Amino acid sequence: MTGGDRETGLPAGRPSGLLGREVAGYRVEDEIGRGGMAVVYRAHDLRLDRTVALKLLAPELARNDTFRKRFAHESRVAASIDHPHIVPVFDAGETEGVLYIAMRYVAGQDLAALLGREGPLPPAKAGRIAAQVASALDAAHAHDLVHRDVKPGNILVAEGTDGDHPEHVYLTDFGLTKKSLSLTGFTTVGEFVGTLDYVAPEQISGKPVDGRCDVYGLACVVFETLAGAPPFRRDTDWAVLWAQQYDPPPPLSELRPGLAGAADAVFARALAKTPEERYGTCLEFVAELRAALLSGAGATQWEPGRGASGSSAGPVGPPPAPPAWARPVFREV
Ligand SMILES: Nc1ncnc2c1ncn2[C@@H]1O[C@H](COP(=O)(O)OP(=O)(O)OP(=O)(O)O)[C@@H](O)[C@H]1O
Ligand SMILES: [Mg+2]
Repeated sequence: MTGGDRETGLPAGRPSGLLGREVAGYRVEDEIGRGGMAVVYRAHDLRLDRTVALKLLAPELARNDTFRKRFAHESRVAASIDHPHIVPVFDAGETEGVLYIAMRYVAGQDLAALLGREGPLPPAKAGRIAAQVASALDAAHAHDLVHRDVKPGNILVAEGTDGDHPEHVYLTDFGLTKKSLSLTGFTTVGEFVGTLDYVAPEQISGKPVDGRCDVYGLACVVFETLAGAPPFRRDTDWAVLWAQQYDPPPPLSELRPGLAGAADAVFARALAKTPEERYGTCLEFVAELRAALLSGAGATQWEPGRGASGSSAGPVGPPPAPPAWARPVFREV
C-alpha cells in the first residue's frame, strides 16, 4: 500500500521545475516539502506582496470527483475558521488542472521533523503542543469539520511568543487526505495512501466519521510525542490496520517509565475502538491526560511554561527575541 515512492505526479524528482514560475498569481520560490499527494512551496503572493505557502495537489486528485468536491467544500470551511492554532487559508482553486491552496507560511518545522530531531518530548512540551492542537480540532468540530488526518506532518511548530509559550502550534490540511477515499475503496492497488499510524478504526472500516476520529488521531500523536513512537508500530501496513482495529494500545507507563500509570487509562479511552467510548472532545482528553500525569510520580512535569519543573520549562531571564512572524510588528514599535 505504501509501496513505491511518494510519487505525486507533480514535477517529481525535479523540484526546481517550478521555481521562479508564476502559478495562479504566486511566484514559486522554494520547495518546502512534499508528501504523498502534494508539494508545498514557499511562494510570493504577487497581488498582496507577501510570502505564502502554496500547496499544489497531484493532478490525479483533480480528476477524482469525490476529492474535488470535498476539496472545494473543506477549503471553504477551513478558510472560514479563524483560530490561532489553525493555519489560515488565503485562497484555494484550480489552475491548469491542478488544485492549489495558498495559506500562511509558517516558519518552523513540522512535528514529525521535531520528533525526528528531539525524540520523545519532555511531558510539559508534549502537553503544550497537545493542548494547542486539541483546541484547533475542537474549534473545527464546532464548525462540523472533521480533520481526518491528524498526524505529526500536519502539525506545524513555530516559535512562540515568550518563555511561557515557547512554541506556537498550527494544524493544517483539513480534509486533504486520500485515506478516507482509499480505505473505502476508491484507490487503485499500489497507490500511495499515507501513514496508517494515526488512522481510527472507523476510518479503516469505512464507517461514517465524526470529530471522535480526530480524538483518536490526536491520541496517537500525543502518545508518540511521549513514547517516541505511535501506539501501533508493526512491520507491515496490514498489521498496522489490524492493530488499529483490534489490539489494545501498549501501556505508555511501560514504554516511558516515570510517567504516571494513570495516563494509561486515559490513552485506553482516547484510543477506544468504538467512537462512543472515547472522550467527547479533544480538550477533554488533554485535560484528563494532564490530570493523570499530575497525579503520579512525574507530577510536576506536565506543568506548562515557566513554572514547570520538567526539562522543558521556559527559560528564566529576559524574554527571547520575537518569533519570525512577529518581527514586522516589533519593528514598527
Ligand atoms: N503552511 C505551511 N507553512 C510552512 N510549511 C508547510 C506549510 N504547510 C505544509 N508545510 C510543510 O510541507 C510539508 C509537506 O506537506 P504535505 O501536506 O504535502 O505532506 P505531509 O502532510 O507531510 O504528508 P501527506 O501527503 O501524507 O499528507 C509539511 O510536512 C510541512 O513541513
Ligand atoms: Mg500535510
